Amino acid sequence: MMKKRVDILAIVFLSVVAQLLSTASVSAQFPPFPFVPPIPNPRLARAYIALQAWKHVIVSDPRNFTGNWCGPEVCNYTGVFCAPAPNDTRVLTVAGIDLNHGNITGELPEDLGLLTDLALFHINSNSFCGTIPQSFRDLHLLFELDVSNNLLSGKFPSVVLDLPSLKYLDIRFNQYEGDVPPKLFDLKLDALFINNNNFTSALPPNFGNSPVSVIVIANNAVNACLPTSITKMASTLNQLIIMNAGLTGCLPPDIGALNQLTVFDVSSNNLVGQLPKSIGNMKSLQQLNVAHNKLSGEIPESICSLPNLQNFTYSDNYFCGEPESCLKLPSEDDTKNCIPDRPLQRSQEECATFYSHPIDCSSYGCWPKSLSPSMSPMPQPSPVRATFSPATAPGYPHP
Ligand SMILES: *[C@@H]1O[C@H](CO)[C@@H](O)[C@H](O)[C@H]1NC(C)=O
Ligand SMILES: *[C@@H]1O[C@H](CO)[C@@H](O)[C@H](O)[C@H]1NC(C)=O
Ligand SMILES: *[C@@H]1O[C@H](CO)[C@@H](O)[C@H](O)[C@H]1NC(C)=O
Ligand SMILES: *[C@@H]1O[C@H](CO)[C@@H](O)[C@H](O)[C@H]1NC(C)=O
Ligand SMILES: *[C@@H]1O[C@H](CO)[C@@H](O)[C@H](O)[C@H]1NC(C)=O
Ligand SMILES: *[C@@H]1O[C@H](CO)[C@@H](O)[C@H](O)[C@H]1NC(C)=O
Repeated sequence: MMKKRVDILAIVFLSVVAQLLSTASVSAQFPPFPFVPPIPNPRLARAYIALQAWKHVIVSDPRNFTGNWCGPEVCNYTGVFCAPAPNDTRVLTVAGIDLNHGNITGELPEDLGLLTDLALFHINSNSFCGTIPQSFRDLHLLFELDVSNNLLSGKFPSVVLDLPSLKYLDIRFNQYEGDVPPKLFDLKLDALFINNNNFTSALPPNFGNSPVSVIVIANNAVNACLPTSITKMASTLNQLIIMNAGLTGCLPPDIGALNQLTVFDVSSNNLVGQLPKSIGNMKSLQQLNVAHNKLSGEIPESICSLPNLQNFTYSDNYFCGEPESCLKLPSEDDTKNCIPDRPLQRSQEECATFYSHPIDCSSYGCWPKSLSPSMSPMPQPSPVRATFSPATAPGYPHP
């Protein structure tokens, strides 16, 4: 056992020496051969190889984060954090990398897979290009992966699907494109940020399998309905943000089952139909934004009576009535709708044209037929507040 360990040390040791000799910038920091630097332990020696390989492909480092990435004491490198190895607490190992806001230009080499004890990898707000290396599949302890706000591109980095410890995945603000693999939603993640990429699908039927508390898909072009499986996320989902993602169809009628939700933002999409009354069951809801869609009908009283609702934005839709309670919320925006006696609404002509086309939720292919309530184009007048009057609008269908 001891002998084996010494052999490994010797091999790693030799490779470190080889690396030192082959890397001009590094060897320049040390006296020439035969000087031999000390090697703290085999794990740190492998980390040394990985970090030197990384430094080698960094083209620009304006804040000089990697300026002190020389010599074998990797735990002293800026942005490198060491801790006792979980499976052998007697040895120190690299547990975290944090180069956030470095504005570094470069790429992520395969050698980073040598950092097998890594729990945190944070490189947000740099200019790394390429993608996440396949070798990341060796990072069995990786818990938080934040590569947001870089220039990563290509297909979804599917290597993340093979990381058994991953809880926090943030790849937002990159240039990824294509489909998001459905398997992503079967992972035991706690937070998922894939917004501001060019994904063209991200709402598969198994979406609701995800146990995340926060999910942000905003600013992609997924062009799909909100899957009905979303109600399976009732006990875990806290924030759901799918703004400007090409959402179509109607909101699932039982979406109100998401009673842990505090932030619900589906603004700037192509949603149609009415706001489900069940949203009034989202007792934790604080922020609700459905602005910039084609929603219609009356705002359900149950929503504006929600005990924790701070801000309800529903401007730029075709709502035709709102209960008084909505106007008493700490913050609300009802402009650019079809609500009688309210300022800054759409013209009667525009509202009449819109309401002359009935909306059939089932025609969007989102739900089985049985789930689709028949959406009458013009809801019955409500005693809560006067509705848009079809009688005064030319061409308006008489109920
Ligand atoms: C970068 O950091 C290294 C090590 O701390 C230092 O020697 C070097 O002068 C720094 N370079 C610049 C341009 O600040
Ligand atoms: C690394 O950090 C330790 C603790 O701060 C210090 O004692 C040691 O001299 C440093 N090594 C180098 C090469 O800077
Ligand atoms: C980041 O680097 C780019 C060039 O690579 C430069 O134009 C930009 O000003 C830098 N930003 C910061 C915050 O350093
Ligand atoms: C300890 O963990 C590392 C990294 O996860 C692994 O490569 C190594 O085989 C493990 N060692 C033991 C003795 O389990
Ligand atoms: C990707 O999306 C950005 C906006 O987020 C857009 O400017 C760019 O043209 C898109 N690229 C491709 C290849 O679709
Ligand atoms: C309410 O939410 C909207 C949309 O997110 C936002 O623009 C507005 O600033 C918020 N109002 C307040 C008072 O927070």
